[in-house]
Amino acid sequence: RQRLLLEKAEQLVLVCGRREPYLRRDGAAGLAVLRAASLVVGLDGCIKAVGRADVIRNQFSEATFERIIDCSGKCVLPGLVDAHTHPVWAGDRVHEFAMKLAGASYMEIHQAGGGIHFTVEHTRKATEDELFTTLQHRLGRMLRAGSTLVECKSGYGLNLETELKMLRVIERAQKSMDIGISSTYCGAHAVPKGKTATEATDDIINNHLPKLKELKLSGEIHVNNIDVFCEKGVFDLESTRRILQAGKDIGLQINFHGDELHPMKSAELGAELGARAISHLEEVSDEGIVAMARAKCAAVLLPTTAYMLRLKQPQARKMLEEGVIVALGSDFNPNAYCFSMPMVMHLACVNMKMSMNEALAAATINAAYALGKSDTHGSLEVGKQGDLLIINSSRWEHLIYQFGGHEALINYVIVKGKVI
Ligand code: NIG
Ligand code: FE
Repeated sequence: RQRLLLEKAEQLVLVCGRREPYLRRDGAAGLAVLRAASLVVGLDGCIKAVGRADVIRNQFSEATFERIIDCSGKCVLPGLVDAHTHPVWAGDRVHEFAMKLAGASYMEIHQAGGGIHFTVEHTRKATEDELFTTLQHRLGRMLRAGSTLVECKSGYGLNLETELKMLRVIERAQKSMDIGISSTYCGAHAVPKGKTATEATDDIINNHLPKLKELKLSGEIHVNNIDVFCEKGVFDLESTRRILQAGKDIGLQINFHGDELHPMKSAELGAELGARAISHLEEVSDEGIVAMARAKCAAVLLPTTAYMLRLKQPQARKMLEEGVIVALGSDFNPNAYCFSMPMVMHLACVNMKMSMNEALAAATINAAYALGKSDTHGSLEVGKQGDLLIINSSRWEHLIYQFGGHEALINYVIVKGKVI
């Protein structure tokens, strides 16, 4: 028996036919589109077959399938992967949005005790159940916008107790929801009030990480990545290096915020430490780009943040030309309140001059690579997880072309062959 047959799709977008991140510029070569095609997901949730509709019909009898969806006139794409989100927090910052519109900068608000500090205060006070309820709601909205795998960060606790509370909340979502999650410890998201950066760094290395290691070993918390906000006035390059190295030593993948508001040589550091990915990079140096390409360190670009904060756009074109693995993320957080990867792809095309092919690869296979999951996620290949979207259009590009309102365009979101 098989779980699902998607039949006769007008376009079936494979993204790329190999288990490698998608490096090529423009992406035409790596983006295979089949016409009048079908796809089979087995009972194990993995893709069993993909190919011409008539060929698949001859291979499998109708009675084998638990469910058949007629996709004529529609497109089938891989589920989207969101490589960067901060979805666990209490309180919002709509008042700060107004301040920013009136001219305040992100760092001015942060240094005045708002920004991340405001969210930390509210998140410390919230109960685990409250945080879980809002997380569930937010992940539900991401799923409806087409994301089937998302990275989720802690980072609004800063003290051990609240950081662990956030990671437990993420763990609960991992266990109870269909959406895939890669979990990130981000205890170095800001320097907590009353501490110096060096004191905060020591606390993380001497207290937080040993506890995380213990909980990881006992199987209580499945944290995957370590993150630091490497920025002027937050964690400098040396503190960042110490924290990331200590995280790597307990088996976490390095995936951090760098070169966002000031050039910090974060990219050079990430390449040296063997980082999986670095996010933001609006202020990356030319040498940093070359180093990232060489180290196969993914660049997670966040068009919502550059848009919201009116920052200089990250140089996506230059990165692609140099052979960097470019991925995308929503950066959902109280500063950039966006759940939607289709909108992120649209912004990446318009503001960062990516092609639609490049944007789709960046929001699927390359984002999966940034999370260390490109062997199981991010493209439609036999053996990979059956995470898919069916959109109500005969051309897949409508997923990017339409700006907003995707809930009406996306007919089905499917995770492991299960229709959500
Ligand atoms: O990726 N730059 C640091 N972290 C987040 C913002 C978090 C916040 O402002 O709450 C980001 O944009
Ligand atoms: Fe972020």
